[in-house]
Amino acid sequence: MGLKKLAMRNNGVLLLVVVLFSLWGCSVSASVSYDSKAIVINGQRRILISGSIHYPRSTPEMWPDLIQKAKDGGLDVIQTYVFWNGHEPSPGKYYFEGNYDLVKFVKLVQQAGLYMHLRIGPYVCAEWNFGGFPVWLKYIPGIRFRTDNGPFKAQMEKFTRKIVNMMKAERLFASEGGPIILSQIENEYGPMEYELGAPGKAYSNWAAHMAVGLGTGVPWVMCKQDDAPDPIINACNGFYCDYFSPNKAYKPKMWTEAWTAWYTEFGGPVPKRPAEDLAFAVARFIQKGGAFINYYMYHGGTNFGRTAGGPFIATSYDYDAPLDEYGLLRQPKWGHLKDLHRAIKLCEPALVSGDPTVTQLGNYEQAHVFKSKSGACAAFLANYNPNSFAKVSFGNMHYNLPPWSISILPDCENTVYNTARVGAQSSTMKMTRVPIHGGLSWQAYNEQTASYEETSFTVSGLLEQINTTRDASDYLWYMTDVKIDPSEEFLRSGKYPVLTVSSAGHALHVFVNGQLAGTSYGSLEFPKLTLSKGVNLRAGINTIALLSIAVGLPNVGPHFETWNAGVLGPVTLNGLNEGRRDLSWQKWSYKVGLRGEALSLHSLTGSSSVDWIQGSLVARKQPLTWFKTSFDAPAGYAPLALDMGSMGKGQIWINGQSLGRYWPAYKAQGSCGGCDYAGTYNEKKCLSNCGDASQRWYHVPKSWLKPTGNLLVVFEEWGGDPNGVFLVRRDVDTVCADIYEWQPTLMNWQMQSSGKVDKPLRPKAHLSCGAGQKISKIKFASFGTPEGACGSFREGSCHAHHSYDAFERLCVGQNSCSVTVAAEMFGGDPCPSVMKKLSVEAICT
Ligand code: GAL
Repeated sequence: MGLKKLAMRNNGVLLLVVVLFSLWGCSVSASVSYDSKAIVINGQRRILISGSIHYPRSTPEMWPDLIQKAKDGGLDVIQTYVFWNGHEPSPGKYYFEGNYDLVKFVKLVQQAGLYMHLRIGPYVCAEWNFGGFPVWLKYIPGIRFRTDNGPFKAQMEKFTRKIVNMMKAERLFASEGGPIILSQIENEYGPMEYELGAPGKAYSNWAAHMAVGLGTGVPWVMCKQDDAPDPIINACNGFYCDYFSPNKAYKPKMWTEAWTAWYTEFGGPVPKRPAEDLAFAVARFIQKGGAFINYYMYHGGTNFGRTAGGPFIATSYDYDAPLDEYGLLRQPKWGHLKDLHRAIKLCEPALVSGDPTVTQLGNYEQAHVFKSKSGACAAFLANYNPNSFAKVSFGNMHYNLPPWSISILPDCENTVYNTARVGAQSSTMKMTRVPIHGGLSWQAYNEQTASYEETSFTVSGLLEQINTTRDASDYLWYMTDVKIDPSEEFLRSGKYPVLTVSSAGHALHVFVNGQLAGTSYGSLEFPKLTLSKGVNLRAGINTIALLSIAVGLPNVGPHFETWNAGVLGPVTLNGLNEGRRDLSWQKWSYKVGLRGEALSLHSLTGSSSVDWIQGSLVARKQPLTWFKTSFDAPAGYAPLALDMGSMGKGQIWINGQSLGRYWPAYKAQGSCGGCDYAGTYNEKKCLSNCGDASQRWYHVPKSWLKPTGNLLVVFEEWGGDPNGVFLVRRDVDTVCADIYEWQPTLMNWQMQSSGKVDKPLRPKAHLSCGAGQKISKIKFASFGTPEGACGSFREGSCHAHHSYDAFERLCVGQNSCSVTVAAEMFGGDPCPSVMKKLSVEAICT
């Protein structure tokens, strides 16, 4: 609800509130405070539903749609971190344009009538490069991050103040008429403080006082910070937070990160979290008096460029969020949560009135009942048993509770929602090749190994990578010479000596005399690597060139800023006449970055500065190759991506902008078993993609394209086949509904309680394809006892023979349709006295 509207609704309390009229308009300021029950806005306690959308992980052109879909999904608040390294790429040089236009983002949230939770950090974690810290910060003399350290505190205060002042200048805090109702300082510092002891404690106290001293007029939050000093609210992050209590009785119970699933790492499977369990976790939090819940992430988006942290965080930050990476609705998650939010909002008057009364209804069953003085009553009936249904008596009624579920009764009598009964449609998505006239025709440029003339300096010994590159590039060349005496035995026996390279990570290519001799890489869990390989050396001088590659800087962990990358050694040769030769301490020459990077081959001007190999001469499977092509933007609504399935590892640019790192050759390792929503979720449960690329598709934001002649540049490290790269569109493939005949619905309850109908209404199956699509075919429909899940439905022993009819009539040819789930619609009851449901799957084209 908009601030203006809200203020109007609260005429009674308006007198108590300071009303400010800004100079440029008439936005009404809101007072934001809190008490033990909730965040209080203009004197009114609110149950607030929030979702994280990180502005740099999408484009400004996507923001209005994302924010609108968040609002339609029942959100009140948008939460974002502020990304310091994006905003201050070099000391004192600020950047707030493009997808870093923070003010624009906050204003769009305001225009949509939503609130904002601004997590300034400026440490953000977030699987973001270096946890959001600019790399230059590390090179300020005497600095130590996130502890009681003068140089660090000075920089942190300067940036925090900069952001706060910027928001104030635009009057964006609620106290000034803006949408920002909450801020955050630091991020999950509690565990760090515990490790550091006294300096940690001194630092978090300082951070708290510094933040409060900035006078934003709205409360500050510290998440995972049990000792957050007053007036800061300490909040919980996790998959479940119902157990959490704030550190003072007068603070509200806030959940700043309800993880909607988890992030993907290159080499790891893709995590999913069932909507039923996420809804259960949220209902469980609310029934225990929770008053603010934020989905982390509501839209995860994309780690464009080199913004992914890690190391090894994938470019997609999809997170299995309610809005997918491309900004499309992820169903049933989005819809099931929307229904949950409506149910919670119906309970709001009772929820904010006082503590619940908790009654044990059985071994695993509980009722939480909230009552207000004015007579509102709301009940949450929970079955914590992951294995079986429960029949409970509550009031004068009986209720059937599916395993691991909570039913919500906004009048303490009628169930309007159960977390395990999904009324929303589910959708499967497809990636379809976009025909490009004449196909993509590629040109190539060979990067080749660095030469000594190009190296910038030579020292004895091996250097740490990040200190050498300062993250100006992922790439660092290490070069040295090895002299082989003609008397070496291996030259006759043909038994090559073995080169062993130990590296702190993250990936490594070894070239001997210009030829690729081997490749190795680590993983998020074990970034270090050792490569051992027999190498074909010749008599005389041999050049060994090691290309060490960073795959994102760490974003989390004690003193993550001190973690090393690169070839730290030892580097040895075994199997020579002398036995083992240690190369670690000899002279090494260094070059930061690639030739193609120095030439800006990714850009329009740079790419025309070299001669490219044309047409059929473009070699496949050639390491260190730049590829370029151009294409026209396709028509249509669907979001776009590049299918990089035929490629190895590298980076992609479109019209000079980086889509990010790609690495489809890194297959997802792990076990992807089944996925039962019931039972405690963690990030190891419900994995997908095992054995396939961790990430095959790479989002191409539409706003980065021109109608014609878009320049696509790919740098391939390993050697892939660019002829297998395709532009694809993302569309809804099929939509399903799976609904019980007597499934509770909110609509039903609203109609009944307003006296519009006297007997219960049946639920409806809603089917809706994507923008510009139509339902072309009903693939399956069965009213009775169908089995299976969306994509694999099959008829059960009871099936109404006219199950398809209504769908054929009402849905085919339409973009969306609704069909009432009642026997009459399907030609009569096929099996009276049996509990029936409807399963339907339709194809969208
Ligand atoms: C949290 C952290 C977030 C994010 C998340 C995992 O602990 O606060 O920034 O990193 O973990 O996705």
